[in-house]
Amino acid sequence: MQARRGSAALRELAEVSREAKIESLPVATELEWDSPLTLESILKYPHPKLRAPNARIGVFGEPLQRLANEMFDVMYRDDGVGLAAPQVGVNLRLMVFNAAGERGKGEEMVLANPRIVSSSKRSDTLEEGCLSLRLGETVINGDVTRPVQIKIAAQDVTGARVRLTLEGFEARVFQHEFDHLDGVLFHDRFAPPTLEANRAKLLEMEEAYLAAHPGSDVRRIAPAAA
Ligand code: CO
Repeated sequence: MQARRGSAALRELAEVSREAKIESLPVATELEWDSPLTLESILKYPHPKLRAPNARIGVFGEPLQRLANEMFDVMYRDDGVGLAAPQVGVNLRLMVFNAAGERGKGEEMVLANPRIVSSSKRSDTLEEGCLSLRLGETVINGDVTRPVQIKIAAQDVTGARVRLTLEGFEARVFQHEFDHLDGVLFHDRFAPPTLEANRAKLLEMEEAYLAAHPGSDVRRIAPAAA
């Protein structure tokens, strides 16, 4: 859901309704994943798990840390700066990111059950990419407009509550990963010309997936406006 810019009341409404939706999600009491995660574990568009609901996390400590560590491993190996659990087939509200994109540099963030408390009215536009929207030579990139500052609440790997203010590139990475937890992919936010510029590549990825998984029920991009 994206509130119209300039309307604080609408923005608040959108946040309240998003919150209510999160509260109604089931809580997972077990962590299951395909360990160890590898580059092949990163699901590619239009895999249905990228659009599936993500449960809230009810397991913390050592098992969650192990999953987060494996997610960081594949994220760095694939030159990413952020990764959401559904991208590795785990439909839980978990994200990891490091805006520096390199092990040992920057700050590694592991956020469970994150939510956006408030977002700035001011936004900016920057080109993004996504590890789930590139397949070999086919790479989707495009401008996305997002608030420049956000206040967020989440739980850390131990389950402790954290509140953070994120700005600039970190705020952008968080919002991209947060979208994944709601089944939103970054091209859903493309302006029409950006979507058109990427249409052939998106269709190519859809065709590749459907060729490997015939008859599967995937959400495809809307046809071009006549
Ligand atoms: Co992504």
